[in-house]
Amino acid sequence: MAFKTLASLLAVVGTLQLANAAATRKVVCPDGVHTASNAVCCPLFAVVDDLQKNLFDGGECGEETHESLRLTFHDAIGLSPALARQHKFGGGGADGSIMIFDTIETAFHANGGIDEIVNVQKPFAAKHNMTAGDFIQLAGAVGFSNCAGAPRLEYLHGRPNAVAASPDLLVPEPFDSVTKILARFADAGFTPDEVVALLASHSVAAADHVDPSIPGTPFDSTASSFDSQVFIEVLLRGTLFPGNSTGNQGEAKSPLQGEIRLQSDHDLARDPRTACEWQSFVDNQSKMQSAFKAAMSKLAILGHNRHDLVDCSEVIPVPPRANSKAHIPAGLSRHDIEQSCYFRPFPVLPVDAGPATSVHPV
Ligand code: HEM
Ligand SMILES: *[C@@H]1O[C@H](CO)[C@@H](O)[C@H](O)[C@H]1NC(C)=O
Ligand SMILES: *[C@@H]1O[C@H](CO)[C@@H](O)[C@H](O)[C@H]1NC(C)=O
Ligand SMILES: *[C@@H]1O[C@H](CO)[C@@H](O)[C@H](O)[C@H]1NC(C)=O
Repeated sequence: MAFKTLASLLAVVGTLQLANAAATRKVVCPDGVHTASNAVCCPLFAVVDDLQKNLFDGGECGEETHESLRLTFHDAIGLSPALARQHKFGGGGADGSIMIFDTIETAFHANGGIDEIVNVQKPFAAKHNMTAGDFIQLAGAVGFSNCAGAPRLEYLHGRPNAVAASPDLLVPEPFDSVTKILARFADAGFTPDEVVALLASHSVAAADHVDPSIPGTPFDSTASSFDSQVFIEVLLRGTLFPGNSTGNQGEAKSPLQGEIRLQSDHDLARDPRTACEWQSFVDNQSKMQSAFKAAMSKLAILGHNRHDLVDCSEVIPVPPRANSKAHIPAGLSRHDIEQSCYFRPFPVLPVDAGPATSVHPV
């Protein structure tokens, strides 16, 4: 009896070891070039090449990259356990519903302008026979890898297609209060610190629709680098527009010419619940990378169980190293920083030499 138990125990151990070996052994892909940890990742290498060449203009951190990153968020955040608890459909998260049910979701106010990138991506997803949920997250991670200083994002594969459109009003708006924004993110499973980390995305971002008369206006002076300038520049003193009917809804003024500031970014940078976390990114590129990567790993699989997916992160290109150092823009000084974290001094930063310059559109 004891012997039999031992034998079956050994058999179990043997099976486990085999399973482990299978999980770590690389397979040679049919293209004869690549190896992958799982054969289902093999076709993705060709998808990545196609995207780099034909969607991201040869590997740029430009408009298509920015829009593709924004799309990962607007698809994924369509998930609400709170709605589900009221026995209403709470959305499917990162399920591609924004592409499959695009006539419904791109009409939501918060999704203004997102139809452009959905229309551009759709034929790529079809051509490569990928589910919309997988494709949106893959394209976001690949595009983002073109931004200097970016972390290499995780990419998990195997999201089934969405079965229904997300309900409206789940995507935060720039005129929402901090309380409303934090509550929306908490519903989707994110802490206030993770919200601030996710907003590092606005380091590689511009707005077309907040003020339609100045499309392509960036949120920081270095929109093609994933750097901390957005955390610095949003803290520069400016005039807040809310309640001013001649300002645009959801906009707060940046003192830098050619730069636009979201009211939500302005408020989150100054709110006691988020100000110290915001400031912590000002001179900490490695924290910005690791915190953003970790938060994106959660965002990219909202609505799914990570154990149902295959890790194909190896297909994501390695991003170029950071090419800028945290600084105060020329013509300004540390006195222009609106210190909002009262527990730690603001880091000492170099000031760019020369007269004030204006920020170029994307
Ligand atoms: C409080 C939450 C957020 C609000 C209120 C917000 C709002 C906005 C707005 C209004 C725009 C400008 C869109 C336009 O006019 O073209 C924008 C752009 C952008 N957002 Fe957010 N956002 C939030 C969070 C996020 C998150 C979590 C991500 C992460 C992936 C993200 C990524 C982007 C990117 C990459 C752009 C630039 C798009 C482009 O340049 O075309 N945002 N956001
Ligand atoms: C597309 O993918 C599905 C599974 O996601 C598969 O069943 C189907 O055969 C594929 N079609 C083509 C043309 O490769
Ligand atoms: C509202 O904003 C506009 C644009 O900057 C500015 O010219 C105007 O003086 C502001 N009005 C008030 C009442 O603050
Ligand atoms: C950067 O952030 C990490 C993680 O929070 C922290 O351990 C480290 O001390 C920070 N570095 C600086 C220079 O503040």
